[in-house]
Amino acid sequence: MAPIGASARRGAPRDTEADTRVVGLFEGEAPDDDEVRALADSGEAKAGFKKLAVTHADGKRVVVVGLGKRDELDSEKARVAAAVAAGRASEIGSHSLSWAVPAEAVAGALVEGTLLKLYRFDRFKSKEDDDSDSSEDGIATLEFASPDVDLESAVNEARVRAEAQNRARDLQNLPSNVATPQFLAERARELAVGHGSLECEIFGRDAIRGMGMGAFSAVAQGTYAEPQLIVLRYGGAGDSGPHLGLVGKAVTFDTGGISIKPSAKMHEMKFDMSGGAAVIEALDAIATLDVPGRITAVVPATENMPSGRSVKPGDIVTAMNGTTIEVNNTDAEGRLILADALCYAVDQGAERLVDIATLTGAIVVALGSTYCGLFSNDDDWYAQVDAACSATGELGWRLPLHPEYFELTKGQYADLTNAAEQRKAMSIYAAEFLRQFVDDRPWVHMDIAGTGWSTGKPYVGSGASGFGVRTFVELAERVAGGG
Ligand code: BES
Ligand code: MN
Ligand code: ZN
Repeated sequence: MAPIGASARRGAPRDTEADTRVVGLFEGEAPDDDEVRALADSGEAKAGFKKLAVTHADGKRVVVVGLGKRDELDSEKARVAAAVAAGRASEIGSHSLSWAVPAEAVAGALVEGTLLKLYRFDRFKSKEDDDSDSSEDGIATLEFASPDVDLESAVNEARVRAEAQNRARDLQNLPSNVATPQFLAERARELAVGHGSLECEIFGRDAIRGMGMGAFSAVAQGTYAEPQLIVLRYGGAGDSGPHLGLVGKAVTFDTGGISIKPSAKMHEMKFDMSGGAAVIEALDAIATLDVPGRITAVVPATENMPSGRSVKPGDIVTAMNGTTIEVNNTDAEGRLILADALCYAVDQGAERLVDIATLTGAIVVALGSTYCGLFSNDDDWYAQVDAACSATGELGWRLPLHPEYFELTKGQYADLTNAAEQRKAMSIYAAEFLRQFVDDRPWVHMDIAGTGWSTGKPYVGSGASGFGVRTFVELAERVAGGG
């Protein structure tokens, strides 16, 4: 899919060259547009949130979308309204859209909702689907018009965020025979070539073992695919705020290993690199936006495969910080590779840590696709990450840590076991496990097994969601702002 152009225009919304205008309708307010007012008066266009109507004026289509009450319109509602309007516009064959921006504060959210909704992943379709709304000549340009405010920077920044999220969705949607660990590493290298503020370093199998990463090595030993520890170092102008460490799980395919998964939904495990994809593409957006501050991004990438040389249940391995781990279940591989990646981020001097991972099936049971699970050892750092989540609509819900949960992770033969014997608090168990590798630094763990794909959100729909990209951009901005 070619990228969709998005621009701001200062002037009367009616004066557009686009073939389709989008106008929002607030409850209890008469619209400026004569045609829209007539449609509202007749009852055909409704101001109720997400209600849609279509009319024609000056030879153009006009999509009218209900926005509810003006003082209740927040960014998330704006993303949703933009998505439903864009969905209708593409159904009726529009090529160019022009939004009459109803409030300056939601301009960026309208851009995000529109670009995220119009995302398609069809590069492996040899011909167009007859029943698809999209087509090769679908919506190609977007405009955001306001008569009295200059929206250029708001629109551009939102476009950068949404495009980064869409590129993370591409990495997620790509099958595991394409999006290999080396493919992800290549993507990270490409970003470093594109930005003077980004440096990339890649470690392969021998280097990973050489650094003492026994847990990561154990997961990677069963596959022919060369594992990669992908490191991106960002140094933005003005070096302000604490050094941020972002760690993303990138298991490019999770079969479960010797503790093999059932075959029914195994194909979904190509998405088990979603955390890593979010971290990599967030760094691109952060560098493009020149956010001040220092970030070390660490993405351990490998397949988890059964083979004659795979790690076996009961094997004991030693992580980079010397902690010994009994691998009771080879399907609990994410926490193993993250353990060493977190140690590495700590070693590199990261002062605030966030990891993001499709870590547990249990978080899907607990929170579905609406909230990701959040876990933290530090209330202040948690509050900052949670605030970033709320601002972007990538919601998180905190679950507790507790010494009694930590007790569950203790091993009989080694310091830790990687999986619970009983099916107790499995998402928390995983978080307690990871906590052993952060050296008591402020840390938040995001379990995105439920929010990473198939969320049903109006603006990301089914397939990969790119969850986390906008939260990391927001978080980097807040950390830089001393917030
Ligand atoms: N990648 C999976 C988690 C997952 C499951 C993500 C379903 C999305 C949907 C992870 O590696 C895993 O297999 N976790 C196991 C851990 C268990 C063996 C302790 C799980 O959650 O079942
Ligand atoms: Mn697994
Ligand atoms: Zn996994």
